[in-house]
Amino acid sequence: MSANRPAAVVVLAAGEGTRMKSATPKVLHAICGRSLVGHVVAASRELSPEHLVVVVGHAREQVTAHLAEIDAEVRTAVQHEQNGTGHAVRMGLEELSGSGVALDGTVIVVCGDTPLLTGATLERLASAHATDGNAVTVLTAEVPDSTGYGRIVRDAASGAVTAIVEHKDATDAQRAIREINSGVFAFDAQLLTDALGKVRTDNSQGEEYLTDVLGILREAGHRVGAAVAGDHREILGINNRVQLAEARRLLNERLLERAMLSGVTVVDPGTTWIDATVTFEPDALVHPGTQLLGATHLAAHSEVGPNTRLTDTTVGEGAVVSFTVADRAEIGAGAGVGPYAYLRPGSRLGAKSKAGTYVEMKNASLGEGSKVPHLSYVGDATIGDHTNIGAASVFVNYDGVNKHHTTIGSHCRTGADNMLVAPVTIGDGAYTAAGSVITKDVPPGSLAVARGQQRNIEGWVARKRPGSAAARAAENAHQDHQSDQ
Ligand code: UD1
Ligand code: CA
Repeated sequence: MSANRPAAVVVLAAGEGTRMKSATPKVLHAICGRSLVGHVVAASRELSPEHLVVVVGHAREQVTAHLAEIDAEVRTAVQHEQNGTGHAVRMGLEELSGSGVALDGTVIVVCGDTPLLTGATLERLASAHATDGNAVTVLTAEVPDSTGYGRIVRDAASGAVTAIVEHKDATDAQRAIREINSGVFAFDAQLLTDALGKVRTDNSQGEEYLTDVLGILREAGHRVGAAVAGDHREILGINNRVQLAEARRLLNERLLERAMLSGVTVVDPGTTWIDATVTFEPDALVHPGTQLLGATHLAAHSEVGPNTRLTDTTVGEGAVVSFTVADRAEIGAGAGVGPYAYLRPGSRLGAKSKAGTYVEMKNASLGEGSKVPHLSYVGDATIGDHTNIGAASVFVNYDGVNKHHTTIGSHCRTGADNMLVAPVTIGDGAYTAAGSVITKDVPPGSLAVARGQQRNIEGWVARKRPGSAAARAAENAHQDHQSDQ
C-alpha cells in the first residue's frame, strides 16, 4: 500500500469529447485493452485511496455502467452541466460529503482522458506534496508545444508557482511558457473544499476553473508547489483519434519494453501489439505481426506468431503457435498450433498435442499427445490421449436445432475424411476407416467401416467413351501390360 495514501482520488470524466467525432463517449474509447478512464482508474488504484470518485456527465449511464464493470468500488458523482473543472471537482467532493464522508488528508485530482499516467508518477506527486507540506501540488511538464494547455507561471526570483493561466486567458509572454499544467493535482482536502467555494467564473470561458484554486490558496498564504513529470508524454491528454493512436503506440511501447526487460524476446516491437493485462514468463518469444489481448499468458519458452491474434488465451511452456487466431483457448505445454488454426472459446489442448494446418476447434478438448494435424473441424468434443484424427475430418455437431457432443477415447486412429455425426462415442484403441460417416458408437478396439463398397466395372470407358483420350490411354495401358508378360 502507498505510504502517502490519499483520502480520495477524483477523476474528471464529465466532458463530451466532441473532437473524437464519435457516438462513444471519449473516456470509453480503448487502448491496450482498457478504456481511457479504465487506465486512469487502474493508475489511481495503485495509491490505494480511501475513496475513488469519477465525475460523470455526458453519456453518464453508459460511463457509469462501464465503471461498475471494471471496478465495483468506484463511486460516481454527476455533473449535470459541464461548468468547468473546478465545478466538476466540487461535484465529486459533494458526492462524498453528501454520503457522510468527512475527508481528511490529501485529495488527488486527475483527468479521465490521460491514459499514459502511471501510478508511480501519482506516487511521486503525493510524496512531494506530503514532504513539502503543500496546500496544493500541481504535476507539470515541459512540452515541445504548449498550445491549448494552461501555463505554469512562476515567480521570477524564487521560482515558486504563482498561478496557472489558461491558454485562452494568457498574454503573449505567458503563451511562450513551455511548462504546462498536466491537470493532475494533490490538494489538502479541507483547503480545497474552502477554496472551491471562492472560485469565480469571470474568465474567457465563463467556467469555474480548478486552476484558480492555486492563486486563491497562495493569496491566503498557503504553500503552492509543483512536481515536474519525468516524461512529458505521460500526461498526454486524448482529444482526438490522432492522439488516441499516438497514446496507443506509446503505451504499447512501454508495455513491450517492460516485457522485454523481464526476459521476453519481441522480434519486432513495431508490429507487436499487447494489452496491459497480458502476462509473460521469461524466454517467451513473440514473432512479428502478433496481437496479444486480454488475459493472455505466455509461459516460459513458448513461441507465438508470426501473424497471430490471441485473446484471453494461455500458452503453455514451450508451446508453438503460428499464424493463428485463438479466443479463450488453453494451449498445453509443448503443444503445436497452426500454421492457420482457429481456436474458438473452450478449446483445450493437452500437453504435446497438436491442432495443425487449417484446423478449427470449438468447445473441444484434446488429450495429451493427441493430434488433429490437417484440415478439420472439431466442435463439441472430448478426445482422449495419444489419439490421431485423420485429415479432413468434421465433427458434425449440429443437427440444425441442437448441438451434440462427440467422445473419442485414447490411442484411437480415425481415418482421413471422416464425418463423426454427434452424439457418438468411439472407444479406446478403436480405428475408423477413411471416408467413413460414423453415426453409431464404436466399441473399444474395433475397426468401424461406414462407406459404400467399391465396385470396378471393367471396360466401361471403351464401351461408353469410345475414341476418347481416356479410352486410348486405357488401350495403351492394356497393350503395355500384355507386352510386359
Ligand atoms: C485543463 C486545464 C489546463 C490543463 C489541461 C491539461 C482547467 C481550467 N484547465 O484544460 O490548465 O493544461 O486541462 O490537459 O482546469 N471536465 C469535467 N467537467 C467540466 C470540464 C471538464 O468533468 O465541466 C473534465 C473533462 O472531461 C476532462 C478534464 O476535465 O477529462 C479536462 O477538461 P478539458 O475541457 O479537457 O480541459 P482543458 O481545456 O484541456
Ligand atoms: Ca483536455
